[in-house]
Amino acid sequence: MSKSKKTYRVGVISDLHVGSLFALMSPEVKKGRKGRERQTVMANHIQRFLYGRWCEMCKHMNKDGPLDVLINLGDNVDGVNYHGRGFGTWTTVIKEQVDEARNLIGMIEFKRIIGVNGSKYHVDNNMTADEAVVSHFTPAPKSMVEYEPEFGTEVVATIGGVRFHLSHKVGATSTIHRATKINKEAMMAELNKEKYGKFDVLLRAHAHYYRDVGTPFNRGFICPCWKIRDDFSQSGSLAWDPDIGYIIFTIKDGSYDWEAKIFRLTPDLIFDEVIVK
Ligand SMILES: [Fe+2]
Ligand SMILES: [Fe+2]
Repeated sequence: MSKSKKTYRVGVISDLHVGSLFALMSPEVKKGRKGRERQTVMANHIQRFLYGRWCEMCKHMNKDGPLDVLINLGDNVDGVNYHGRGFGTWTTVIKEQVDEARNLIGMIEFKRIIGVNGSKYHVDNNMTADEAVVSHFTPAPKSMVEYEPEFGTEVVATIGGVRFHLSHKVGATSTIHRATKINKEAMMAELNKEKYGKFDVLLRAHAHYYRDVGTPFNRGFICPCWKIRDDFSQSGSLAWDPDIGYIIFTIKDGSYDWEAKIFRLTPDLIFDEVIVK
């Protein structure tokens, strides 16, 4: 592990799912093309809560100046909501979702962004909405096919001597064994270190709950999200209980520490309760 004297601050966000009625959105968003189509969409109760927490996160991330790196683990937009056939979204226009995701991420100050592509049924993969979001903050590529190494389906990045493997998907489970899949990733990384090189940190998302698993060799994280239970999860199980939040890594001298912030959710955000008196 190479040593570096500089301290690096690295923020990690994922699964914004902009476009969903159950996910992050600014208090007011202009949608529709210019002219007669133009309208203003107002955030709902859930979205106002999420936006408040997002502002808290931005304040935390920006407090010591721009982050050295912002890691974006995908599912920035909800897309056309394949599973819900468009149900539960305030817009299914991908350009409007991408613009709003860019606005929200633009509230974070960072020097560099590294991103991976999310789930195909949300962001597509030819072209991907996640790349449209992340590339907005990177120098323009020389051509459409000349991808920068900072974005991909998986990205390997060494920051201040700490080697990360980034990918969106880790198997989500409705059982209580939520650490099993990320533990497996961590162990597979170690078992294959001759081929892959040694990874210090595995970052995943997709499952929408936070977990971190330390092994004697490395550590795996599942990043929290910015979307509460939507119709798809409501039709599933109470096991789909998302964690809202983010992670900040501090890296110095080739070693790292981290802070994971998970915001408390209350029943009024998750249910419209019927009360019979
Ligand atoms: Fe997601
Ligand atoms: Fe996903």
